[in-house]
Amino acid sequence: MKELWSDIPTNGDSMLLAVIGDPIRHSKSPAMHNAALAALGIEGEYWPLHVVRDDLGHAINQIKKLGFRGINVTIPHKIEVMAYLDIIDDSAHIIGAVNTIVNNNGVLTGYNTDGIGYVRSLKDEAMADLCGKRIMVLGAGGAARGIIHALSQEDPETLIIANRSEDKAIQMENEWKSLVSIRGISMDKVSSYLPDMDVIINTTSVGMYPHISAVPIDPDGIPSGIVVSDLIYNPLNTELLKRSQDRGCIIHGGLGMFVNQGAYALEYWTGVPAPVEVMRQAVLDSLQS
Ligand code: ATR
Repeated sequence: MKELWSDIPTNGDSMLLAVIGDPIRHSKSPAMHNAALAALGIEGEYWPLHVVRDDLGHAINQIKKLGFRGINVTIPHKIEVMAYLDIIDDSAHIIGAVNTIVNNNGVLTGYNTDGIGYVRSLKDEAMADLCGKRIMVLGAGGAARGIIHALSQEDPETLIIANRSEDKAIQMENEWKSLVSIRGISMDKVSSYLPDMDVIINTTSVGMYPHISAVPIDPDGIPSGIVVSDLIYNPLNTELLKRSQDRGCIIHGGLGMFVNQGAYALEYWTGVPAPVEVMRQAVLDSLQS
């Protein structure tokens, strides 16, 4: 892992890419993007860069100075990084977070590919058309914001946002209701809404490694045959997904979102279609190693 900026080569021919975050050691993005660059025949390298909060401004300066073409931004910098950018794409502005930066000759533009990556994956892998569907989103944090914005572009019949702290769910309802039919509820009220849902999406961290037996809602109330999706990709099949599959549901894990947020980012940097299957395989290999 590179922590010293002096380690990074500065020859102008190679496409320099990186992910900045804290922690960063376990990121699967370098394996995924380096495999993609190789498959596309693009000379370049994608580095994991450990950047702590206090160093964010310095890191952005270095990125410009060294001529990085693109950066992914992960926890905890997705909001704070916006202060250092020259242009913020409209949807990233509405979502309030940036996970991808494009550097055009020193002009930095911020995008958010998390939500669109998620929806591309949900449509490819589980439900091709979300128009007219009733969708429940569990959680009202940063991940939910990107997803709600991307879902609002798909013309669903309604979005139900269920959150442990009800006030955050209601705040989301108020913020987004001009864009889409949306209702914020507390997690306790989920059971009365479940029978009407076509899709349930878990955006909370409940069920993530190492707490792999936890579930965000009681799976016994999930209607048989609907789509149940979980953003978590470690483990690949969460307890929520396993229990939903037992109930005859179509299940969708978080790997596809991770791969597709990366695919959109790579497409912004390179201008060519991303090799999605190569990227997926690289992440799977890296999860198993
Ligand atoms: P992220 O960017 O991953 O969405 P976040 O902004 O911290 O992270 O949001 C985490 C979400 O998971 C929140 O909706 C949180 O609920 P609260 O707003 O009530 O805190 C939810 N969450 C986290 N742990 C949870 C738990 N143990 N049970 C239920 N919800 C939980």
